[in-house]
Amino acid sequence: MPLPTPDTPHSAPAGAAMPHRTVLLNEAVQALWGEAGPVPEGTYVDATFGRGGHSRLILSLLGPQARLLALDRDPDAIAHATQGEGAIADPRFRIEHAAFSSWGDVVEQLGWGPVQGLLMDIGVSSPQIDNPARGFSFRFDAPLDMRMDTTQGESAADFLARADVQTIADVIRNYGEERFAWGIANAIVAERDAGRSPQTTAELQAIVARTVKTREPGQDPATRTFQALRIHVNRELGELEDALDAALKMLAPGGHLAVISFHSLEDRIVKTFIARHSREEVDRRVPFAQERPLLLEALARIKPSAEEVAANPRSRSAVLRVARRTAVPWSPEAVRAAGGPGAVQSVEASPAKSGRSGKPASKSAHKAAGKAGGKPPARGGRR
Ligand SMILES: C[S@@+](CC[C@H](N)C(=O)[O-])C[C@H]1O[C@@H](n2cnc3c(N)ncnc32)[C@H](O)[C@@H]1O
Repeated sequence: MPLPTPDTPHSAPAGAAMPHRTVLLNEAVQALWGEAGPVPEGTYVDATFGRGGHSRLILSLLGPQARLLALDRDPDAIAHATQGEGAIADPRFRIEHAAFSSWGDVVEQLGWGPVQGLLMDIGVSSPQIDNPARGFSFRFDAPLDMRMDTTQGESAADFLARADVQTIADVIRNYGEERFAWGIANAIVAERDAGRSPQTTAELQAIVARTVKTREPGQDPATRTFQALRIHVNRELGELEDALDAALKMLAPGGHLAVISFHSLEDRIVKTFIARHSREEVDRRVPFAQERPLLLEALARIKPSAEEVAANPRSRSAVLRVARRTAVPWSPEAVRAAGGPGAVQSVEASPAKSGRSGKPASKSAHKAAGKAGGKPPARGGRR
């Protein structure tokens, strides 16, 4: 289906700095249709509504009987979809306040399955980064919060106030790929022991700056530590793994999966997941080796155009991966045959070393991250 011009139709005020621009807008929406015909019908899911750039374009192109379910874990995103000028009043649209790890459950509860297309544009949005009060960025001095869902879970400050030094180091090393993780973790715990556990972005930035003396040109010493804490506090990698696993079960035969990621840790998970379910790995040396049922077909890896990167520098690290669900029925056996759910090993297998011992990174950071989300996501269904 031809799409409108690549101009971003949606642009919302974004806290202080850059306006929100949807990344890979046309490419991602085009990737959802597959063979849906000239006017796509059926159920589509935008699991990361943000400010609704993708959702609005999807709605403008869907057929009259189609429906779009959007999710976001950030109450500000839900408010944007339901209140004020940005509100979407379309009977085919529904938005839920939920973490996308639960998107399959939400679809099942609504009785909206199977799903023709799932889009995930993961990570933080510009409105989140640029809102000083959210504590995502050291550009603003603010409470050290970093939660996308401000209604539940543990803030970054609370995590640093209670976690042991090894867990803090593991988080910073595994999710920030920070070689000074052990020193930073020790410095944080020393401050805490002196009654000065970091409560604000500026306090944490100062601790890191005292510890990290060398850095790539143009990069603040605290960049990697902030990224790591954000990933941990929001259980970002576990969320992604759970959402991908649900796609195997919830997508209709021929249904499309489109995932935009901005970070190599996330992209590695998406890439590994698609490869695991789309690549035949029959051992030809074994007589009568069984062919494994493949649940996905890998379709594309797409990067933003040079024009998009020039217009929106934040798009430069984006990668869109697209896959199509095959007609092989979902079953626990089919998933197990591909190596079981989850792609934790792809993160843990990163070359990072652990602590002083120099041993491979432990799984404790990922496990700790798994606990950070606490209770299941809140749901506040809204139209
Ligand atoms: C990059 S923005 C999406 C922008 C959106 N595509 C647009 O065009 O405006 C990512 C959004 O996903 C949300 N998000 C990130 N992780 C999430 C998760 N695990 N569950 C639900 N929403 C999540 C964030 O709150 C943020 O609003």
